[in-house]
Amino acid sequence: MHSRIIKTYQVSLDKSAYEIIIGKDIVCTISQFLVERTQDKRVLIVIDNFFRAKILDPLVQSLSDVGFSVYVHNFEAGKQHKNINEAMKIYEVLEGNDFARDSTLIAIGGGVIGDIAGFVASTYLRGMNLINVPTTLTAMIDSSIGGKVAINFRKTVNSIGNYYHPMLNIIDLQFTDTLPERDFKAGLAEIIKCSIICDKELFNYLNENYSEVMSREDAVLLEICSRAIEIKLDHVKDDVKEQNKRLKLNYGHTLGHAIETSTGIFEEVYRHGEGVSLGMVGAAYIAIGHFNQGDGVINRHEEILQRYGLPVRVESGSIGFGREKLIRECLRNILKDKKRKGNKLRFILPVSIGKCEVFNNIDDKLIEGAFDYLIRQ
Ligand SMILES: NC(=O)c1ccc[n+]([C@@H]2O[C@H](COP(=O)([O-])OP(=O)(O)OC[C@H]3O[C@@H](n4cnc5c(N)ncnc54)[C@H](O)[C@@H]3O)[C@@H](O)[C@H]2O)c1
Repeated sequence: MHSRIIKTYQVSLDKSAYEIIIGKDIVCTISQFLVERTQDKRVLIVIDNFFRAKILDPLVQSLSDVGFSVYVHNFEAGKQHKNINEAMKIYEVLEGNDFARDSTLIAIGGGVIGDIAGFVASTYLRGMNLINVPTTLTAMIDSSIGGKVAINFRKTVNSIGNYYHPMLNIIDLQFTDTLPERDFKAGLAEIIKCSIICDKELFNYLNENYSEVMSREDAVLLEICSRAIEIKLDHVKDDVKEQNKRLKLNYGHTLGHAIETSTGIFEEVYRHGEGVSLGMVGAAYIAIGHFNQGDGVINRHEEILQRYGLPVRVESGSIGFGREKLIRECLRNILKDKKRKGNKLRFILPVSIGKCEVFNNIDDKLIEGAFDYLIRQ
């Protein structure tokens, strides 16, 4: 297989400097990178079982060839495993094998694995080397960038976490070949989000090039992923701890997380990106009430999201929930939002397609109205 690096970004965030590399079949370049950067020869690979056959053997071989002792921790994918018990299992491997601060943890998987393995790397000995190899579109353009690492606690999404940056982030487009359509579309929801918050041109491109985007051709993926990554970096660079500009990246997340949490009591009903899709429609609905926006913006949201097969309403009956009870549960869960200030929720609302702003004083009735709009019988 011929490995090909197509694009690199030099990132400087929070006093950490690292590289994002985009390419094809580039996972094994990690071994050369590590030889040049670390003294300690221990590496733990935390990997989604799905990639064992395809990626693991060549990577282990290439690391062993240059003198590393490689340990592997198989992680069973799924949000229900992003918890403290699974984190403990990773700590046990690290501690049991005398890993040091200069040892390296390589996280290979979607956002769940990146978040939990990143959280462990950030806390073990107060921080060890971390390399991200995101394998879903969501992880490539969103969760692996910006330094947020976390686990869920009880029913609250990402409630225990940290800010921690990797020493290298490898975005290998080969992984998109096997990504199920549902996960690919969930990742596209985050790219659509980026376009709505600040890039009308990207929005128009996504709107007009559905077949090309869905074909997953390298050139198209490179185009839309690069743009989403640049938007993420631009919003994070002077605001890693989310006081200001970075907040806008949470567009759709406040209502979306409440729906994800409220419906995911027994098992996952919505992917993260699907929750964001619903949350964006809800936020566009709130914008109508908050500043008398016409219905053009919400209609354009619904059009593009539906075109990409993303949810714009919750059909409560078909997912096994009573409508009124689900609305109550969503209202209860939304109060746990991390972006609240005092008792008030902060909301990111669309002023137009390509421009979002942060608003502090949203009337509770509008939030209730948004769930009422989103959740059907
Ligand atoms: N840290 C952040 O800034 C941030 C941002 C966005 C989302 N997140 C978190 O990310 C998580 C969601 O991530 P996700 O959407 O990547 O889901 P995921 O990690 O649950 O992966 C979804 C599914 O795809 C499978 N999969 C992964 N890569 C594959 C591939 N290349 N081919 C085939 N199957 C593959 C996995 O096994 C899993 O079943 C949530 O926990 C969310 O909170 C974090």
